Amino acid sequence: YIRNAAELITFAGSSQSPLTGAAMGELHPIANGSIWIENGVIQAVDRDEVICNQYRNQLGDALIIDASEKLVTPGLVDPHTHLVFAGSREAEFDMRLKGRSYMDIMEAGGGIHATTTATRQASKAQLIAESAHRLDRFLLHGVTTVEAKSGYGLNLEHELKQLEAAQELNEKHPVDIVSTFMGAHVIPVNRRENPDHFVDEVINEMIPEVARRGLAQFNDVFCERGVFTPEQSRRILEAGVVHGLLPKIHADEIEPYGGAELAASLQAVSADHLLKASHAGIKAMATAGVIAVLLPGTAFFLMTAAADGRRMIDAGVPVALSTDCNPGSSPTVSLPFIMNLGCLWMGMTPAEVLAATTINAAHAIRCADRIGSLEVGKQADLVIHNVSDHRGLQYHFGSNHTHTVVKNGKIVVE
Ligand code: NIG
Ligand code: FE
Repeated sequence: YIRNAAELITFAGSSQSPLTGAAMGELHPIANGSIWIENGVIQAVDRDEVICNQYRNQLGDALIIDASEKLVTPGLVDPHTHLVFAGSREAEFDMRLKGRSYMDIMEAGGGIHATTTATRQASKAQLIAESAHRLDRFLLHGVTTVEAKSGYGLNLEHELKQLEAAQELNEKHPVDIVSTFMGAHVIPVNRRENPDHFVDEVINEMIPEVARRGLAQFNDVFCERGVFTPEQSRRILEAGVVHGLLPKIHADEIEPYGGAELAASLQAVSADHLLKASHAGIKAMATAGVIAVLLPGTAFFLMTAAADGRRMIDAGVPVALSTDCNPGSSPTVSLPFIMNLGCLWMGMTPAEVLAATTINAAHAIRCADRIGSLEVGKQADLVIHNVSDHRGLQYHFGSNHTHTVVKNGKIVVE
């Protein structure tokens, strides 16, 4: 029984489709709000006096958490991470600070290739240990569900190892993990002679096997000049659909490349990054209902301008926010900091930022039937924040305001 929150933000009624336009900014907070939970499932959400009266006979046996003067929201959902990897890339960080570009380092065999080498060398147990540590820290920042991509194996054996690591973590760690296959993360250095051969391998060998083993729900590709062309990306994503993997896409990150347009024409679940997405592409996404997963931490860490979140919301695109947690372009687990950037750097309001990291993020990984909002029948995943007004999360920027995290009805951070 979570009692008497100063502001209780539920996002109730949005499980069918993501919030768009003005609705993203409408919070309808419940003052003195309370939630009754049994067996990990939400039984009632209302003003405290109503819940108190309704459950008065059970109050004596209940575990009561007092949320007075605090903000309560759904557990945060991170819909785009590269959670499972080995090693880190501080040397490249130094190089970039001295002016080398991210893509240049990758072309020279570093970047994603460097992490692929480290990840191939690591055992599954090592990957699980390193990633569990990251998940612990996600949880401390109020994140109760993450999407996790493969893409540092780049061959069947090691892609499977990464996805199996994510699956085991999902079973043993409190944070829920939704998996995405991303064998098309980059063309491996020794396959550069014939990129289409590698694309064929992804399509004919990796996708069918990943799908057969039930190791992923989504299929993602890095559509970018020098990585995968829009034509190759289309083939890969269509092949995934044949095997039941829903399309996602890393689109228009470094330059405009038709990624947003491709996402719209494929009716992808989401198009992510979109720093350089064209007006036409954004319009097409709005029409097709493709969710924009924006990753301002990546823009920040690559020291470039962020995606235009404001324009996308105003154009009717459903927007979600994510860390893009990965060792090269966004080595962070702090979704709260990403939320600060969404507000202070992309022109989103504090209310929109919350929608983008709860209900819309849940939609971006097709989990909105279970999580992302606080309403009867949903999984009891929620965060009690150490602020009394939701704007405080952004106003007092740079801090982790997480006070208590409840996952499946259990206190996991306090
Ligand atoms: O989303 N852009 C491609 N992939 C990741 C970065 C991966 C890496 O640098 O290791 C991203 O930014
Ligand atoms: Fe990414």
